[in-house]
Amino acid sequence: MELRRIGSREVGAIGLGEMPMSIEGRPDEARSIATIHAALDAGMTLIDTADAYSLGGADTGHGEVLVAKALASWSGDRGSILVATKGGHLRPGDGSWTVNGDPAYLRSAAEASLRRLGVEAIGLYQYHRPDPKVPYEEPIGVLKELLDAGKVRMVGISNANIHQIDLARSLLGEGNLVSVQNQFSPAFRSSEAELRHCGALGIAFLPWSPFGGIGNAEVLRREHPVFERVATDHGTSAHQVVLAWMLAKGDHVIPIPGASRPSSAIDCAQAVGLELTDKELQRLDQDEQNDQG
Ligand SMILES: NC(=O)c1ccc[n+]([C@@H]2O[C@H](COP(=O)([O-])OP(=O)(O)OC[C@H]3O[C@@H](n4cnc5c(N)ncnc54)[C@H](OP(=O)(O)O)[C@@H]3O)[C@@H](O)[C@H]2O)c1
Repeated sequence: MELRRIGSREVGAIGLGEMPMSIEGRPDEARSIATIHAALDAGMTLIDTADAYSLGGADTGHGEVLVAKALASWSGDRGSILVATKGGHLRPGDGSWTVNGDPAYLRSAAEASLRRLGVEAIGLYQYHRPDPKVPYEEPIGVLKELLDAGKVRMVGISNANIHQIDLARSLLGEGNLVSVQNQFSPAFRSSEAELRHCGALGIAFLPWSPFGGIGNAEVLRREHPVFERVATDHGTSAHQVVLAWMLAKGDHVIPIPGASRPSSAIDCAQAVGLELTDKELQRLDQDEQNDQG
């Protein structure tokens, strides 16, 4: 698979989003492990998870434990895999999501992630989502501490605007902010400004929910039919067209599609070989309902 860069590491241009294997509706463990192995065998070398990917409460860290287990039973080169996790989001156990950017909390969350992943240092640690009750400088300060202490090898942020990207970059020091993970999909394009900003700064941009989220394939088909039309012309899936369209936005873009079936992960990995013409990319950018090619 084509490689792209996150800080000091090269990873496959498409990564695996682990969330569908840990939250409501998740499959049994055997299918999840088969999905992770299929993704790795297909050349994905980035897995994105979070301590919050769980049903909450005692299930916290489900995703991290699953990834560690899948890696332990994979026959390939584990050293080539970058596991990215996050802290700062919580699931109280009632189906909701909350945030906590308190420095003491974030330090303890990172220690717990280290234990669950069973590593000496976390490959990429991301601050999951800003907490409006805590000045952004404080959790970013914890990321810097973790980096300086060697507990994490690289740091990133998620759900960040341009001001937060610039602030994090200046607080962390030259070259230390390696990635920004924001929502970006055919239906949600308002983070294109952050995508471009990251490109100009040499920071990797990881679009989350590239298809609009778990179970939203029908919405993609119904509300953004141009992706299906271009897919038909290439004899491929609309999912591959979405990913190829994102990859064409810059060498710093590394989408992390979620999957809970081996076939989904394999199909996504194959998007790397899909070449779209300038005209097709323009049609996808414009995304007209009545597009006829
Ligand atoms: N930073 C944040 O705040 C944040 C928030 C949300 C998500 N994320 C990250 O972003 C990742 C991706 O987002 P997401 O999982 O919410 O949504 P998504 O990637 O937009 O959609 C995932 C769904 O798409 C289906 N799918 C994937 N590839 C397919 C293919 N080739 N053909 C048909 N169906 C396909 C999967 O179905 P199957 O399950 O049937 O395989 C899966 O349920 C997450 O897993 C997580 O790592 C981050």
